[in-house]
Amino acid sequence: MTVRTLFATPFYEGKLKNAALVADLDRSCQALAEDDRAGRAWSKAHGYRGYTSYASLNDLPMRDPAFADLVKLLNKHVAKFAEDCAFDLNDRKLKLDSLWVNVLKPGGMHSGHVHPHSVISGTVYIVVPEGAGALKLEDPRLPMMMAAPTRRDDAPEMLKPFVYVEPQAGSVFLWESWLRHEVAPGTAKSERVSVSFNYRW
Ligand SMILES: [Fe+2]
Repeated sequence: MTVRTLFATPFYEGKLKNAALVADLDRSCQALAEDDRAGRAWSKAHGYRGYTSYASLNDLPMRDPAFADLVKLLNKHVAKFAEDCAFDLNDRKLKLDSLWVNVLKPGGMHSGHVHPHSVISGTVYIVVPEGAGALKLEDPRLPMMMAAPTRRDDAPEMLKPFVYVEPQAGSVFLWESWLRHEVAPGTAKSERVSVSFNYRW
């Protein structure tokens, strides 16, 4: 007798192997959090605890060579993940669609969401203080489970309805853009800095 596991949810965990670039990106993110008034105003108006450039800046790789260098590396990670996902891209490559900075204050979180109009989404982590909230991933089939029992605490990871992934500075996490995720609130005493992005076909 065998039990097959079907309908995978791929999740990519890579690493930026360039500490100098991570340090440059930290400086760039902090400078944006200081200088981008429109982004600060948007963050405040939308209850974002900290700063995000999500709604204010769409040209970071053109403004700042650190982001341009980051995109070159991300393109490789995303191409590898697309290969692992067995996407038939018809000889086309996935392209960066958007990229934004998040400087999350202690106690900050980001509730569950998906990234529409994209193929692959992800986050690269720049500063991850002790106790910073994990990335919480959600089984996309939860709305269909109706009367199903919950899973035992000792269920294997592939059967758990929620999976928590703990980043470190330099971690590159990628997932298919339909995968619902959230940033769980943490207990860190200082800011967590990350750069998120979407790739389209
Ligand atoms: Fe997200």
